[in-house]
Amino acid sequence: LNLADQLKYELKHGIPHDHLKGKTLGMIFRKASTRTRVSFETGMYQLGGNPLYLSASDMQIGRGEPIQDTARVLSRYIDGIMIRTFDQAEVENLAEYGNIPIINGLTDLSHPCQVLADLMTIREYKGKLDGLKMCYIGDGNNMANSLIVGAISMGMECAIACPKDYQPDAQIMAWAKENGTFTCSEDILACAKDADVVYTDVWASMGQEEEKAEREKIFKNYQINDEVMAAAKPDAMVLHCLPAHREEEITAKVFEAHANEIFDEAENRLHAQKAVLVKLLG
Ligand code: CP
Ligand code: NVA
Repeated sequence: LNLADQLKYELKHGIPHDHLKGKTLGMIFRKASTRTRVSFETGMYQLGGNPLYLSASDMQIGRGEPIQDTARVLSRYIDGIMIRTFDQAEVENLAEYGNIPIINGLTDLSHPCQVLADLMTIREYKGKLDGLKMCYIGDGNNMANSLIVGAISMGMECAIACPKDYQPDAQIMAWAKENGTFTCSEDILACAKDADVVYTDVWASMGQEEEKAEREKIFKNYQINDEVMAAAKPDAMVLHCLPAHREEEITAKVFEAHANEIFDEAENRLHAQKAVLVKLLG
């Protein structure tokens, strides 16, 4: 996060920071993306390196070539891989069989790059992370899982509100209970009470399109709205990884009232990921 802050400063002040001259990052996508693709791609250019956009459907993995072989081949050509996919095991297989750094750009289990940007943004607004309360309302999905790990790791209290059949990953919750102050319940207002940060994400993630109608019913009360914001601290910030569905997981009113925070968060994807790239490829 400190390096991300430094790289942001350097970019804003026109200070050259081409730490990755001659380096190439392959970016494999099995799912759609706006922010992850453009921030990684632009970030690599700003660092003096080359990003390679690799749509899985145009690669042989889209026709069944094993990821283990793809890992060993790409390791001979390029310096790192960012992958966005469904199965977390695919990321781990890449890491096991390749010998270059592998960056998780979202799986069904987790979205760590997003959380780095989230933590960076919270620290910009609040001046610290330790001791703050993070409240997440919605699906116990990839976003919730990574947010729990990020918040607890930084000494934040973390409260999740979600329907009982849609809780975050059991192993991650067990880890959170052992390592910090963590709750998971169906009580939205208890979750939001005195929160410093209120967070949500879509009710139906990529790959769950067929469950959309059913999920709209199940999640209908899991929304960030005025009532939730009244329970949080008066200066609470609102974050959303985007894309957002207004009047579903967040009202348009709350979204617009906190648009500066939400779009600073989106911007910080660029800076936080550049820090990851410099650490891993530099
Ligand atoms: N938040 C996020 O990862 O956005 P994209 O799906 O547009 O990459
Ligand atoms: N949970 C969402 C996050 C998108 C950035 C999804 O996986 O579609």
